[in-house]
Amino acid sequence: MEHHPEEIDEVIASLPKERGFLAPNLCLYQNFWFPVTVLPNVITFQRHFRAKDNDIVLASQPKAGTTWLKALVFSIVNRRYFDISNTPLLTSNPHELVPFLEFTLYANNTKPNLEDFPEPRIFSTHLPYSCLPESVKRSNCRIVYICRNPLDTVVSSWHFFKSPVRSENQPERSMEEHFETFCDGKTGFGPFWDQTVGYWKESLEEPHKVLFLKCEDLTENVVAQVKKVAEFVGLPFSTGEEEAGVIQGIAETCSLRKLKDLEVNKSGKFMPNFENRSYFRKGEVGDWANSLSPPMVARLHSIMEEKMSPFGLEF
Ligand code: A3P
Repeated sequence: MEHHPEEIDEVIASLPKERGFLAPNLCLYQNFWFPVTVLPNVITFQRHFRAKDNDIVLASQPKAGTTWLKALVFSIVNRRYFDISNTPLLTSNPHELVPFLEFTLYANNTKPNLEDFPEPRIFSTHLPYSCLPESVKRSNCRIVYICRNPLDTVVSSWHFFKSPVRSENQPERSMEEHFETFCDGKTGFGPFWDQTVGYWKESLEEPHKVLFLKCEDLTENVVAQVKKVAEFVGLPFSTGEEEAGVIQGIAETCSLRKLKDLEVNKSGKFMPNFENRSYFRKGEVGDWANSLSPPMVARLHSIMEEKMSPFGLEF
């Protein structure tokens, strides 16, 4: 058992708990469900992280396209240092290059020294907007949020859960059970709709602060989205770069086909239980049609209509 300050353990002991799908136990904390094993890191991150004005924070829910976004933003930001043909993405998993704040940097009660990270620092998180440290909200740092159609997200997370991320002593769950917990909102860093709507509203109110991306839009036209992200983080492509095909080069190198085929992503783990290969599957829009029955689809559509449509958020 890791050592956490007693007071963090006490906070966690007092919280409502549930069995979720991406974690054996979830805790209800600040109106969202967190994996109980990750919550101490979340609390340490909330208390100790100090954002810099030029930080870039990539936010998402699990299985929404986080890995893809990390690869793209890393490439956009670092294009002045590495030619894409020689990018560190060829030898390092995107999660190593853009670390998770709550899974990696603040793990095991660590308070990392992040002052010396090369600037602009790029971090990632699955925390909902309302749970982000105050300094992230108040500083001028930028947040790029990626979301995905909940139908594809629930199916993608089902496959991920079946993969080696499931620990030996966790029984395999049926798709139906998995779907139920998703619809009940009991997913790590969810309910799905509450987190998505939180970032959506913030992106409408503070468009210079939060860029809201849909994974489906990336699939449809990755070049246009890469340009948009580059402008948002203050590093637009020059005409010369555009003419030289720099954006296409980034899009191609970060494609699922290319990343999935790299040795580094076919083997190894970036955290215990998290195999690199489990982050690269099909990446298809509409893959849900292969796994969800018509009543399941109808149920999720009605939740989307109730929880997201009133805010103008459609998929
Ligand atoms: P599928 O399970 O539908 O294939 P995350 O990175 O948030 O964990 O999300 C994983 C999902 O994104 C998986 O979806 C995975 O295949 C897909 N994905 C990973 N890298 C991708 C890339 N470079 N381009 C497109 N999709 C990608």
